[in-house]
Amino acid sequence: MNKQKAAVLISGNGSNLQALIDACKQPDFPVEITAVISNKEEAYGLNRASEAGIPCHVIKHGNYATREAFDKAMHEQLLHHCARIVCLAGFMRMLSPWFVAQWQGRMLNIHPSLLPAFKGASAVRDALNAGLRETGCSVHVVTDEMDAGEVLLQAKVPILPGDSEESLHQRIHAQEHRIYPQALKMLALKLVQGA
Ligand code: GAR
Repeated sequence: MNKQKAAVLISGNGSNLQALIDACKQPDFPVEITAVISNKEEAYGLNRASEAGIPCHVIKHGNYATREAFDKAMHEQLLHHCARIVCLAGFMRMLSPWFVAQWQGRMLNIHPSLLPAFKGASAVRDALNAGLRETGCSVHVVTDEMDAGEVLLQAKVPILPGDSEESLHQRIHAQEHRIYPQALKMLALKLVQGA
């Protein structure tokens, strides 16, 4: 099978990266991960990538004078690894309009809310504080506007009495790990058909 090459950008634990790695191990999954990039050297997801034999790179945003200079360094690595798709998996940096334009229609993000509700970095806490009975997660196409691109897949997660941010986020994670590989597959098949 001719697989599409994808790279995954992370900043932390990388449990979604792990879900993508596991999915890509299936012979009939239409994607292979050719690189993992982290902006943090302590990100545990780097261990997951190494264990899976995937080349990984730390590109520290602090070493670059501008957001765009940092993004250009990432972009070079992505091209070096022949990536045609980029997956943001807990990558906690805003991307420059330049970078977003390079990957238009080819970059996905996983976000822990039922978008358009609760955009931003504290989505799980915000949903809990809102006193709702349900939240969830979304995989969306990345556009210039934060957490606002076309939603490909969503999953609902109940908010239970006594939930803490951690317990709720744990249940959200379980759904993220289910829908992110599905959405990646959808995008890869769409790109193949459009090619
Ligand atoms: C995930 O829950 C993801 O939805 C969230 O960070 C977590 C990363 O977990 N992303 C955002 O909040 C983006 N705004 P992971 O490192 O274990 O995959």
